[in-house]
Amino acid sequence: MSTVSMTEIVDALREAREAHIEKLKDWLRIPSVSTDSTRKDEVRRAGEFIRDELVDAGFAVRLDETPGHPVALGKWDGAPGAPTLLVYGHYDVQPPEPLELWRHGAFEPTVEGENLIARGATDDKGQALALVLGIGEVLRRRGSLPVNVTFLIEGEEEIGSPNLEPYIREHADELKADIALISDCSQFGPGLPAITVGLKGLCYLQIDLTGPNRDLHSGSFGGAVDNPANVLATMISRLKDDDGRVLIPGFYDKVRELTDEDRAAIRALPFSEEEFARDLEVDALHGEKGYGTLERKWARPTLDVNGLLSGWTGEGAKTVLPSRAMAKFSMRLVADQHPDEIAEMTKAFLRELCPPTCTMEISIDHGAEPVLVDPTNPWLAVASRAVERGFGKAPVMIREGGSIPVVSVLKQVLGIDTILLGLGLPDDNAHSPNEKFHLPDYQRGIETAAWLLEEMAGS
Ligand code: BES
Ligand code: ZN
Repeated sequence: MSTVSMTEIVDALREAREAHIEKLKDWLRIPSVSTDSTRKDEVRRAGEFIRDELVDAGFAVRLDETPGHPVALGKWDGAPGAPTLLVYGHYDVQPPEPLELWRHGAFEPTVEGENLIARGATDDKGQALALVLGIGEVLRRRGSLPVNVTFLIEGEEEIGSPNLEPYIREHADELKADIALISDCSQFGPGLPAITVGLKGLCYLQIDLTGPNRDLHSGSFGGAVDNPANVLATMISRLKDDDGRVLIPGFYDKVRELTDEDRAAIRALPFSEEEFARDLEVDALHGEKGYGTLERKWARPTLDVNGLLSGWTGEGAKTVLPSRAMAKFSMRLVADQHPDEIAEMTKAFLRELCPPTCTMEISIDHGAEPVLVDPTNPWLAVASRAVERGFGKAPVMIREGGSIPVVSVLKQVLGIDTILLGLGLPDDNAHSPNEKFHLPDYQRGIETAAWLLEEMAGS
């Protein structure tokens, strides 16, 4: 048994508060936008940063190459017979655009009051670093951990983790664990920590429509030649009905319905639709008829246009009948929908909808499987106790509408469930301008990570 107590470790973590904030700022200054091919070197630098941090803490670390961005793998396995925790995080971030809406440079981390503002602050550098620092401090102080820990920190989450499944299959032996831990989501609200037991899946498509072989004068040709922009708008309008139901045949076939208990548990959470609408400055909310806002956000599949492009979008008017039109749209899926099956159904339906006046190309961007963790998994109770110590309050069980592709891969390939322990807040502006991380939650997250090892060893 180590002589360094948890009290001493927590004290040390509190003394290091400022240093930990500076460390996070250093990481956030690296613009690791995984989707931007001109920033490949910066993405790698962000991977090297976390590799060095793991080395410093005393883990055996490699930065493994993949066909895309590298994976940082850190291991400490000096507790034979004790359980193994696999900690996942991602060091890549979303593009910062639109830049003009940021109050400070997206990659110039700035503290405003209790928040740190920068791209990646909450998603996911702040949350991932909290776990590395909390667990790292235990190893630094004691020279050992009460359980085995493996870190898997990748650089391609925001582009759908295209190379991670083959990586995990190839390194399945090294990655073997009893349970995974991911902090890449949020608490239910300020002062209301949560463990997430459901994530949505994703099926992302792009349609390219071509009409006439060139842009045309809309007076000379309008009415005689079909307009791909009009066609695209009509096609999109046929994907959902007025009640917000998706009209793709077969779309709902595998949807697992909420049970009465699920609905009661959701209703028991403190949530105000009015406040939610007020924060977004909309006069009315919208969604599938027959369901409440949280039910739609967490447990009902959705379809949304993510991007539209056609014709003249510059200043003033140009009377043109465009030759081409493009839409990107995605469907968020719930258990037990499967992204490949949904993609096939959607393609077939789009082919039916497309008139002979246009040619259509459909491409599939990326996908992720939905996730439902068994809420009675005993590791969740262990994690709840750690949250109670770190946050001073027991977590509620929630679901989220976002996707984390690795979670279903961990289940399928390694056979393990994941504790989704969100340190962020719902208004952190992930993927938006002025992304932030609430620094007191950074601290609580760091301490919770240290406590989790203790709780795991004692269970
Ligand atoms: N951190 C998010 C996932 C998330 C968002 C969880 C909101 C819970 C609530 C993650 O980095 C992310 O944005 N994932 C992508 C995955 C996609 C590219 C396959 C997403 O959900 O859009
Ligand atoms: Zn993320």
